[in-house]
Amino acid sequence: MGKTRAVITGIGGYVPNYRLTNEEISTYVDTSDEWITQRIGIKERRILKPEEGVGVSYLAQRAIEDMQSKRPFDPLSVEAIIFATSTPDYILPNTASLVAFRTGMKNAFGFDLSAACSGFVYALETANNFILSGRYRRVMVIAGDVLSVVTDTLDRNTCPIFSDACGVVFVEAQESEEGIIDSVLHVDGDSVENLHMLGGGSVNPASHETVDRRMHYIWQNGKAVFKKAVTSMADTCEEILLRNNLTKNDVQWVVPHQANLRIIEAIAGRLVLPLSKVMVNIEKYGNSSAGTIPLCLCDWEKIMRKGDNVILTAFGAGYTWGAVYLKWGYDTDR
Ligand code: UT7
Repeated sequence: MGKTRAVITGIGGYVPNYRLTNEEISTYVDTSDEWITQRIGIKERRILKPEEGVGVSYLAQRAIEDMQSKRPFDPLSVEAIIFATSTPDYILPNTASLVAFRTGMKNAFGFDLSAACSGFVYALETANNFILSGRYRRVMVIAGDVLSVVTDTLDRNTCPIFSDACGVVFVEAQESEEGIIDSVLHVDGDSVENLHMLGGGSVNPASHETVDRRMHYIWQNGKAVFKKAVTSMADTCEEILLRNNLTKNDVQWVVPHQANLRIIEAIAGRLVLPLSKVMVNIEKYGNSSAGTIPLCLCDWEKIMRKGDNVILTAFGAGYTWGAVYLKWGYDTDR
């Protein structure tokens, strides 16, 4: 028996049904399937159609249902809900409270966490510390976004990249060798120039002018973001390896945020890791911001084994970035 650790004991995911293909995007911006495939690595992405009349909380509910079907849990046993998202249903109330009500997690407190594409690793580290404090034993971490609502369909620098998805992990206190071992997280406030959505907050509240100036969409300087993403994720992974005395051979899986296949390949190159150890599903789901890492874990859940060394790494607006090292907690045939 080990000490008390925060262990992921269940996972679920959900993507909307609508498949937005590169061919369809090519009908409204000057791009092509060939360019997007070669430069970004995405073939299609899932989009929540506006006519469905629902938001990210709906994706979360479906992700929780997916987890319930594989790993039943009592909603009343959940003590805290952390919802990492940049696209909440509303400014208030928070999205965690909507999900708590609809899924029966009525004994929990909950809040939304804003860290853009790094939301999942930030939320996981927050859940870890709730559990290590001894006050909480069961935390629901939800991470997802509906980026389609903040994507400018006239901007070919962003519209082929972004997508909608949500993942959820149940994090529990266990006396265990498995669980979350270490993390390195950063924020530097340096991204406002290169990666932002300037409308809708307290500086530029929504007005005719902010709408006319397309300020309610994400804008990025792709090249600057690309470079910083590669160095930041690779550096934090290296720091995790070093301070936990891990060699690349000790690592079974690296799970990078899915922003661009070339970013992922560059990180693998920097870490001298074969791509077979790197989870990649960007080709079918695109970049759903906080949703990408749990969606990868979901896709690989049946393949991962108890005790596998897994490093999650993310980078996003803020800039926010970092890496979390954990030992996977279960086999699916448990
Ligand atoms: O999740 C965190 C947030 N975002 C990211 O991590 C994204 C990071 N950045 C990227 O993924 C890439 O920088 C992009 C995919 C956004 C752009 O790829 P790039 O290889 O850096 O292209 P570029 O900006 O250097 O542009 C190269 C050329 C330009 O044409 P000219 O000036 O050379 O004639 C662009 O206008 O490619 C053009 N271009 C496109 N062409 C066809 C840019 N976007 C497109 C497009 N289709 N969608």
